[in-house]
Amino acid sequence: MRGQGHACLTRRARVALVAAGLFAVGTAALAQMSAEIVPPLTGAAQPMDELPADPTPKWTVDDIRKMRAYPDQPPLIPHSIEGYQLSVNTNRCLSCHKREFTQGSGAPMISVTHYITREGQMLADVSPRRYFCTACHVPQADTAPLVGNTFTDMSKLGVGHAGDE
Ligand code: HEC
Ligand code: HEC
Repeated sequence: MRGQGHACLTRRARVALVAAGLFAVGTAALAQMSAEIVPPLTGAAQPMDELPADPTPKWTVDDIRKMRAYPDQPPLIPHSIEGYQLSVNTNRCLSCHKREFTQGSGAPMISVTHYITREGQMLADVSPRRYFCTACHVPQADTAPLVGNTFTDMSKLGVGHAGDE
């Protein structure tokens, strides 16, 4: 019995050793891969160097509503949001975009989805999950993209368009 227990242990130890070896090799390979995948956003500079900051890019504030890249995209903010308070107590965005205020502000109303809770219940006011607008809606800055992008619009993927004929 004793011998059997011993043999069992050594086998287990061997399995553990092989697993540890595989894990080490795997992590090293992953680290190398991620070094290649992760784009060097900070450039060639050493992270601890003291570098002069680039000038802050200009926001795109031309008031022209941008086309959405896909139907479910939260539209980009085409105006300045500088100094707009967005906190638990105050939501400057809603003072223009809420249904009740859109006639005076001329702003597009937050869509019906913004009034629906995650349980699918329709509320009279904005749903808590849609309160912090800038979690989803972002302004754009006039800068060159940091990384390449091969995004293809879904309407260019060879599907027939409704209403084309
Ligand atoms: C003073 C009124 C006002 C305030 C405050 C305001 N907006 Fe707007 N917003 C507008 C108007 C008007 C438009 C229509 C485009 C334009 O004129 O810039 C617009 C457009 C947008 C759009 C584009 C909608 C579309 O369909 O393309 C988004 C997104 C948006 N605003 C989000 C926000 C967010 C987020 C905030 C708060 C940080 C905010 N807005 C604060 C008036 C306002
Ligand atoms: C959880 C993400 C999320 C949050 C938070 C959010 N939105 Fe949206 N918003 C979207 C998405 C996605 C769309 C487009 C699809 C839709 O209408 O649901 C959208 C659409 C819009 C539109 C265009 C409506 C239309 O019919 O053209 C406006 C304006 C807008 N949001 C404003 C706001 C404002 C103001 C807030 C803050 C009170 C806000 N959103 C919070 C995701 C979000």
